[in-house]
Amino acid sequence: MERRNRLLALHRLADVAAFATIVFFMVRTALAEASGDLAEIAAAKATIVVLLPLLIVAAIAAGVSGRRLAAGRPAGHTAGKLFRMKLIGANGLLVLVPAALFLDHAAGLAEIDVGFAVVQAIEFIAGAANIVLFAMQTRDGLRLAGRLPRTPID
Ligand code: HEM
Repeated sequence: MERRNRLLALHRLADVAAFATIVFFMVRTALAEASGDLAEIAAAKATIVVLLPLLIVAAIAAGVSGRRLAAGRPAGHTAGKLFRMKLIGANGLLVLVPAALFLDHAAGLAEIDVGFAVVQAIEFIAGAANIVLFAMQTRDGLRLAGRLPRTPID
């Protein structure tokens, strides 16, 4: 029980850290783009790259702790959460990380061109998709924890 409580505390901490980081990245990017100031855009992109390891570690911790919490539970929302976690990971590693590195590099060289705009648009869409997936993970987590009403597949 003690171990489970620690695992749950880690799961909550990792969830909040990962969720907050990704929302911060989106807001920071949107504000920098809205300012239209090149130095501001470059600073935003550099900040994101520096904080990227935090998001990656928090997402891995959320996935690993969640997997352990789910051990021995019937399928249902845990299966949904596992599947969504794979989508979040693939989206992050295949789209968001490469996009963040490219945008940081391009902004550092002051290359704000069509390529930058296309990659920025893709990053926004992929980031928004991960926020939706995080929200669904949280909803199902609260259902599993009995803090939201359950549905028949729980
Ligand atoms: C982005 C990833 C995830 C987020 C944001 C997330 C979010 C949450 C939240 C908010 C809770 C409720 C905790 C509480 O009681 O306060 C929870 C619980 C739970 N999560 Fe996750 N979760 C994630 C990934 C996963 C994964 C991959 C699994 C594995 C299937 C998982 C399995 C569980 C289980 C079993 C519980 C219930 C724990 C209990 O009360 O016994 N989670 N999750």
